[in-house]
Amino acid sequence: MARIFSGIQPTGIAHLGNYLGAIQNWVALQEGNESIYCLVDLHAITVWQDPEALRAQTRTNAALLIACGIDPDHSILFHQSAVHAHARLAWIFNCVARFGWLSRMTQFKDKAGKDREAVSTGLFVYPNLMAADILAYHATEVPVGDDQSQHLELANDIAQKFNHDYRTEFFPAIHPRIMNSTARIMSLRDGTKKMSKSDTSDQSRINLTDDNDTIAQKIRRAKTDPADLPDHPEKLETRPEARNLVGIFAALANVSPAEVLREHGNQGFGHLKERLTELVITKLTPIREETLRLAGDSTHIDQILQAGAVRAAAIANPIVAQAERLVGLLPAA
Ligand code: AMP
Ligand code: TRP
Repeated sequence: MARIFSGIQPTGIAHLGNYLGAIQNWVALQEGNESIYCLVDLHAITVWQDPEALRAQTRTNAALLIACGIDPDHSILFHQSAVHAHARLAWIFNCVARFGWLSRMTQFKDKAGKDREAVSTGLFVYPNLMAADILAYHATEVPVGDDQSQHLELANDIAQKFNHDYRTEFFPAIHPRIMNSTARIMSLRDGTKKMSKSDTSDQSRINLTDDNDTIAQKIRRAKTDPADLPDHPEKLETRPEARNLVGIFAALANVSPAEVLREHGNQGFGHLKERLTELVITKLTPIREETLRLAGDSTHIDQILQAGAVRAAAIANPIVAQAERLVGLLPAA
């Protein structure tokens, strides 16, 4: 039995990329493992969030995870800020990680863009907090989309440097669990950019709570190219939008891209888009309905998160207290 940890930012509503790249894997990994899933609100505020919207989205995404199949009686489901051990260990990791390591993080470079001087220092040390999230539980398996693999390598570097600097073997190695076929779902407006909550265009993503008309309209308007669909997946390589739609189709229908093209190759995108719309609606309707039902009772959601936080703290507090002792901090009174 392994200890699994993963997190999602409550900066918007989880989308199809989150579902296919991460959440469905989280659900599957519950079986036979000890699983800990976290709404990472401290990560969210590395970029300014409207306070009321952040609170609401934290609850809605908690409801969504439960609607997707995370069982809060089995898994530990909680929000990061409720367990102070994360921030305590993150501070220690701020002092272990090197400036140069963080400077090389592609997510930081992408998010900071040209205006590095103006971004929060929290955004810069974001990966240190992420390492703390995982290592505060001595979790070893981390299911994520492929955009997070560089952060996980950094987390391993931090664990190793801590172990080296304090002459210990306290922190274990972390293994990324990346689902190759669905690890990177792209924007519906630009097949070279990943589907993201922070994209300014809502047309670029399918939110897991979108209604059927919105789903149909977003897929109808999804960017394509003028050629017919090819008859073989290799010919998708230079056609990012076509590749993305075929990939999403394959993931939802549980078939290979080659099979999708056997049926839809050598024709325009119309039929593929119609069938894809049906597939997405079939998948998301029960999730949306259950999310709305659960989110209607925010007191109940808060109770679930608080109970999760108590269970999480019971694991993380002793581990972080030991890390503090190893560093030479006085024990907590
Ligand atoms: P985030 O939305 O950045 O909090 O990501 C939560 C999880 O979803 C992480 O494991 C990401 O790697 C994964 N993820 C986010 N966007 C995508 C995407 N477009 N395709 C596949 N996985 C994704
Ligand atoms: N950085 C991750 C993302 O944006 C979210 C995250 C925070 C996370 N802490 C984590 C993922 C710990 C896995 C483990 O997707």
